[in-house]
Amino acid sequence: MTPHPDANRITIFDTTLRDGEQSPGASMNLEEKIRIAQVLEEMGVDVIEAGFPAASNGDFEAVREIAKTITTSVVCGLSRATKNDIERVAEAIAPAPRGRIHTFISTSPLHMKYKLQLEPADVYQRVIDSVTYARRFTDDVEWSCEDGSRSEHDFLCRCIEAAIDAGARTINVPDTVGYAIPDEFAALISMIRNRVPNIDKAVISVHCHNDLGLAVANSLAAVGAGARQVECTINGLGERAGNAAMEEIVMALRTRHDRMPFHSGVKSETIMRASRLVSAITGFVVQPNKAIVGANAFAHESGIHQDGMLKHAGTYEIMTPESVGLSRSKLVLGKHSGRHAFREKLKDLNYELGDNALEDAFRRFKELADIKKDVFDEDIVALVDDQLGRS
Ligand code: KIV
Ligand code: ZN
Repeated sequence: MTPHPDANRITIFDTTLRDGEQSPGASMNLEEKIRIAQVLEEMGVDVIEAGFPAASNGDFEAVREIAKTITTSVVCGLSRATKNDIERVAEAIAPAPRGRIHTFISTSPLHMKYKLQLEPADVYQRVIDSVTYARRFTDDVEWSCEDGSRSEHDFLCRCIEAAIDAGARTINVPDTVGYAIPDEFAALISMIRNRVPNIDKAVISVHCHNDLGLAVANSLAAVGAGARQVECTINGLGERAGNAAMEEIVMALRTRHDRMPFHSGVKSETIMRASRLVSAITGFVVQPNKAIVGANAFAHESGIHQDGMLKHAGTYEIMTPESVGLSRSKLVLGKHSGRHAFREKLKDLNYELGDNALEDAFRRFKELADIKKDVFDEDIVALVDDQLGRS
């Protein structure tokens, strides 16, 4: 994939079907993966990492079927730095109009010594061999330095330079264990841009895990420093604490365009649909207070906030519910709610009460809210009907 002609356009690389699926308990069947891939394509995702074909026959089949189905997004498969893995990806993505091989190897001292049990010189050679081999099958090769954020800078830069010389057109820098903090990760990207002589021939990508809850912050800091591809997942699904959440990246870019003059091609109005689909398929419930897609992300209970919302939505919402695919915000009635929201709720429920009756109903509602966590419309109807002697 050649760099996007628009220098401020961020390529969104979704790895829900690969890194997301590596989340314990999140495995998906073929039909489910195809449904998710189709929604990702409809969303305008640029690259769909559909799986790790060498991991199992099921993964291979899924990548191949997705490659047959998807026409506009690039379909990508992951491989270790071995010929067999690369061949499996090449075969799986062959039907795709646009296919990518994503090959990786660890570059940190810890991973090289204990996990790979290889000397840095051997790893360096494998970078060259794997990328060169992958280029036999496609022009679109991405290379990742696993544990990049904990790698020694000289060695990392040498490996990146070699990968680009061997033909990689995307260089992905993972924060594999979610260890980086934003200014440090941005500095790493700047360092790579300053020190790798051929870096302009490749797109710099980042892939951040959320072990310290910083995956999105690190990704955005990296974009500020020159990264132009972000790897992410729907609902932040992924290994351990997950990956950077796509919905948060997309909405942060859209909402804070004033400070980050970048944009993605994702249609943000499709976010809720994708979030619900991934949650339903994996069985991973989205926490209510999850940014953008949580049930409470556009819900308000406190009287002060509800009063503000009823006067002007901008008082307590920085983006519209419509922009993420919801029809409206929710004013939830509870013990913190005030008269203004209560009056509006009564209007919605077709009650018109005079001032005294309203005051009485409001007092009774507060008593109920003190003992009942959720006050539903049915509770309000029962309360007011009782007061009006209708029950
Ligand atoms: O977290 C990671 O380092 C990865 C790589 C395989 C890109 O998922
Ligand atoms: Zn990962």
